[in-house]
Amino acid sequence: MSKLQNDNGGALGPLSFLKNVDTNFSLEELKAHLLISQITESEIVKAINEMSVKFTKKRDQITDYVLDHRQVSAYASFYLPTNVPKLHFLLSQLPESVLIDFKNRPFIDVGCGPGTFSLAWKKCLNTGSHVEMIGVDSAQIMLDQALKIMNGFYPKDNFSVQKKLHEKKSTSVLFFGHSVNEMGIDKALDLIMTVDPEYVIWIEPGTSEVFKELKKLRSILIEDYDVLYPCPSHHSCPNSWCHQVLRTSHEASVERLSQLVSLDRKILPMNAHVYKRKLKNERIKQTSATIIRFINETKFSFEYEVCYFTENENKNSIIEIPKKYLSKTLEKHFKNSSVGERIGFIVEKDLGNKLRVKIKEDEVLSNE
Ligand SMILES: C[S@@+](CC[C@H](N)C(=O)[O-])C[C@H]1O[C@@H](n2cnc3c(N)ncnc32)[C@H](O)[C@@H]1O
Repeated sequence: MSKLQNDNGGALGPLSFLKNVDTNFSLEELKAHLLISQITESEIVKAINEMSVKFTKKRDQITDYVLDHRQVSAYASFYLPTNVPKLHFLLSQLPESVLIDFKNRPFIDVGCGPGTFSLAWKKCLNTGSHVEMIGVDSAQIMLDQALKIMNGFYPKDNFSVQKKLHEKKSTSVLFFGHSVNEMGIDKALDLIMTVDPEYVIWIEPGTSEVFKELKKLRSILIEDYDVLYPCPSHHSCPNSWCHQVLRTSHEASVERLSQLVSLDRKILPMNAHVYKRKLKNERIKQTSATIIRFINETKFSFEYEVCYFTENENKNSIIEIPKKYLSKTLEKHFKNSSVGERIGFIVEKDLGNKLRVKIKEDEVLSNE
């Protein structure tokens, strides 16, 4: 059986090479590549105690841990090795065909910090040295640290760093590692629109506050992307808090640090999602329609008959547009909309005799 034929949808087993990957890093191994390679254990402990409270807090409470060589070296000594297993876990939940597809794609690590997930990506997937890897971070010291670590572990690899992303890279995997939480979903969305990647992945803190924001990002992303993990479908999310809890262990020197700072890093709550861009014809299928008949307006919705392109043919269907999804401007617009008008929508639910849809506001109002 070929690797692709062997694809089991991720339910039973990841690629065999992933099972054998050792994601443990020792402090000694990392130290050679730290910005301050002479940093002592007690300095690391002091710095981690200062910064640890910030990571599960809201954005406005996250401060300047990225601006100091000592703190960045401490971050790389403790959070890097204890975050790496999160990616291993996430990849092990994906179908084999997806892992194979990842291997040759440019990998963009947004908010790369000391290079945590670039290192993890490389280690888990054993990507070739020609594969383009880009670390992006607004903090120059983090970029310096990421370069030192990646060049230290993989001197022949094609890893570069940037403070800001300006280019489209539509074949890429765009990865956010504990960085949506810091930059906010608006900036994350801007980046996704700029890069227009094939895949979007995030691993973020598993708190309910962060989940609320990520859920908003999800609802926007599913217009153009399919959810590969963790949701069973792209329909709306019924949960007020969904997260994963990874149980893992670390190398002895890292476990010791964990005890010294009294932080349990063996049980790791996280919020991890994977999205893949929808096929082009699916996008068309879901967005292009013409109103051919006004049917009804109720307190809660508008109903129209529309003609739209689906499964390679033009079809007529009744659509129900719930008012709760509409802005005030759009609701006003639909009170006076015209037969023949072009609209974009996404099917939320097939109700049998009609489709419940969500309108793509920019496509409706851009015609005005
Ligand atoms: C908690 S650290 C995560 C580092 C690494 N990805 C990890 O998970 O171990 C968040 C990183 O995001 C970076 N960051 C915050 N806002 C950013 C932005 N708008 N653009 C790029 N990087 C940003 C910070 O400088 C920091 O290095």
